[in-house]
Amino acid sequence: MSKINIVNMGIDLGTSRTVIACDNGVRAFVPSIVGFPKDAVSQKLFGKNVVVGEEALKHRMALNIIRPFERGVVKFSDEGMTDEEYNKSIEAARLILEHMVNIAKEGAIYESDQFIVRGVLGAPALASIKNKKALLDVARGILDDVLVASEPFTVAYGLGLLTNALIIDIGAGTVDICRMHGVIPTEEDQITTTKAGDYVDGVFFNLIKKKYPDVNLTLNMVKRFKEENATISEHGEKIYIEVPVKGKPERRDVTEELKQACRSIVPDIVKGVEGLIASFDPEFQSGLKENVILAGGGSQIIGLKKEIEDYMNKTLGYGRVIKIEEPLFAGANGALLLCKDMPDEYWHELKSRDSKKL
Ligand SMILES: Nc1ncnc2c1ncn2[C@@H]1O[C@H](COP(=O)(O)OP(=O)(O)OP(=O)(O)O)[C@@H](O)[C@H]1O
Ligand SMILES: [Mg+2]
Repeated sequence: MSKINIVNMGIDLGTSRTVIACDNGVRAFVPSIVGFPKDAVSQKLFGKNVVVGEEALKHRMALNIIRPFERGVVKFSDEGMTDEEYNKSIEAARLILEHMVNIAKEGAIYESDQFIVRGVLGAPALASIKNKKALLDVARGILDDVLVASEPFTVAYGLGLLTNALIIDIGAGTVDICRMHGVIPTEEDQITTTKAGDYVDGVFFNLIKKKYPDVNLTLNMVKRFKEENATISEHGEKIYIEVPVKGKPERRDVTEELKQACRSIVPDIVKGVEGLIASFDPEFQSGLKENVILAGGGSQIIGLKKEIEDYMNKTLGYGRVIKIEEPLFAGANGALLLCKDMPDEYWHELKSRDSKKL
């Protein structure tokens, strides 16, 4: 008799990359990007109609590119989108999710060919009802059971920080800040700002262009360079970027520009931290200040931890910031744990509720 296997997947559908962690041991990530061949030649080059992830990024000149989660689209705010744009984003997001589920299946050893894929999807802290519905649209038919959870909550859950902690998840499209106090966070416990990694790239790009109008740059080059060098620390050596000037590579000093760009997201983050602490029960405020957790790709900016601590010391009297070890997988790891911890009854209940709603 064939046995039904359940695969639990923690899924972080990030603006810049999608990350999965599964209980069959598969852990993987791809850039959140989908490409469609532009013409018959590119169709022949790829030998398929859809290209997902790294391959799409590499060959983006030959493809029509969609980044379905850019600026939080699908997950955060779909305002101002036409129905056609919305449907396209949903379709692209579905292709990414399907790609990830296939990766999860490849790594699995099944006793039979019957299995159920359960997933917890990470969404920005303040994803509206509409965006939760969008995520359910993305998952329909690809995951058998799905639960949408807030991104910083999944990070906290994965680290076992269910109480007395404030999570700052610095992604590409959003910074999500969330306080944990022993229950599932509500809207009041969370703040989302849109000045995150992509914003840093934009500021850095403009500052370089202003200082060196003759250099030839793309946002992608600037992003890669930032990821290797991001710092706001006052110590350290000068930072030079190698850029083409009239086709010839030249080295240019961008130390101040990079620091200024990395700093540009700090004021909104600390305002958010301050707001969530000040509006909390005064008896528990010190617990939050003790345990500020920096997560997400943007948390790797050197000196950021100290910058936030200094600011908290000044405005709130005290602050201890901890940078997590695995910023790339923290959201997916936590989502997986949540997925496994949810009792079967919960999934059954969810399924009957969703099938009524959808
Ligand atoms: N070493 C680094 N230093 C600074 N920034 C970095 C570094 N590595 C990655 N980043 C930035 O982190 C961001 C991506 O982080 P992450 O993968 O957590 O975001 P995401 O989950 O895709 O986005 P979101 O949570 O907004 O949907 C990008 O802006 C990227 O450039
Ligand atoms: Mg993220």
